[in-house]
Amino acid sequence: MRLTCRLLFAGCMLWSLSVTAAIEPISTSIAVGMAAALTGFLARYQNVLYYFQECCRPEWISYNKTGLNNDLRTKLYGQHVAAQVILKAVTGFMNNENPKKPLVLSLHGWTGTGKNFVSQIIAENIYQKGMMSNFVHLFTATAHFPHEAHINKYKTQLQEWIRGNVSICPRSMFIFDEMDKMHPGLIDSIKPYLDFYDNLNGVSYRKAIFIFLSNSGGEKIVEVALNFWRDGRERKEIQLKDLETALSLSVFNNKNSGFWHTSLIDMNLVDFFVPFLPLEYKHVIQCGLAEMVSKGRAPDKEVVEAMARDLNYFPKEERVFSMQGCKVIPARLDFYV
Ligand SMILES: *[C@@H]1O[C@H](CO)[C@@H](O)[C@H](O)[C@H]1NC(C)=O
Ligand SMILES: *[C@@H]1O[C@H](CO)[C@@H](O)[C@H](O)[C@H]1NC(C)=O
Repeated sequence: MRLTCRLLFAGCMLWSLSVTAAIEPISTSIAVGMAAALTGFLARYQNVLYYFQECCRPEWISYNKTGLNNDLRTKLYGQHVAAQVILKAVTGFMNNENPKKPLVLSLHGWTGTGKNFVSQIIAENIYQKGMMSNFVHLFTATAHFPHEAHINKYKTQLQEWIRGNVSICPRSMFIFDEMDKMHPGLIDSIKPYLDFYDNLNGVSYRKAIFIFLSNSGGEKIVEVALNFWRDGRERKEIQLKDLETALSLSVFNNKNSGFWHTSLIDMNLVDFFVPFLPLEYKHVIQCGLAEMVSKGRAPDKEVVEAMARDLNYFPKEERVFSMQGCKVIPARLDFYV
């Protein structure tokens, strides 16, 4: 890997100097000579060498706990339980020099509650390039593995990808979206990588991170949140233990989405279950304002409120929780500006 980085870097230097040569009246051979000399010189200074091309090194991969904590507190809305679990799980894992198994997180909740967003926040606070990093891999069941007939091809492919990428960089991250739509056989095929093996065929997976996203258990989480609300209790009072039982029960009992959970839970492969609560009107407003800012607009409360009022909420009468959470906001907001 070090060699690859070095070669890539040398290539970059040659290219940029050739470009310079094309613009300025220096002959290419001089430019190449200069580039070679410069590359030799830089080879002694690894920190400079690895500066430009993403490499599997601390310059590009290092955990920022302060950053993750900040992002979870200021950018993720209405998810105090998830924020707490994520920070604890990721910090514990990243600070452990010698983990016994890869970190496996399973994120549960309705669409639009922030599961994808949290994965992105985690990636951004570990990899300099965030989701754009070559060491972060996102798989969406319906997009990457759509045809049941090709399941055997997908299995081989997925295993090769995981093995290939972890060989290049042990600190790789794999995100599986729509886990409840993944073929059970495909889930089986990645199980060995999640386990407590020292290594599999010479490759150790213990420093990798796997994140599973799914809607399963979402109904049960909503039920808990609704009960708190009906009892007149604060949302903030909801704790992990209130949701954990609901989640694991639903997970074991639900025939439609139960299989993968059951098999992963039975084998203790999932380290943390992370529940995402349904969002309320006020969270939708927060998402809307943040979205306007991210699009370079001035945050306009009236516009966002008009949009938020038109969304669907449940229970129908009381309109407490948003049906789509923050998911549709980027698209919707345009109509109201
Ligand atoms: C970590 O994140 C904080 C807050 O976002 C930021 O100010 C700081 O520069 C980051 N540290 C590193 C080493 O990137
Ligand atoms: C790494 O994973 C990507 C998919 O994210 C795949 O296209 C690529 O071939 C894999 N690399 C190796 C070396 O297996």
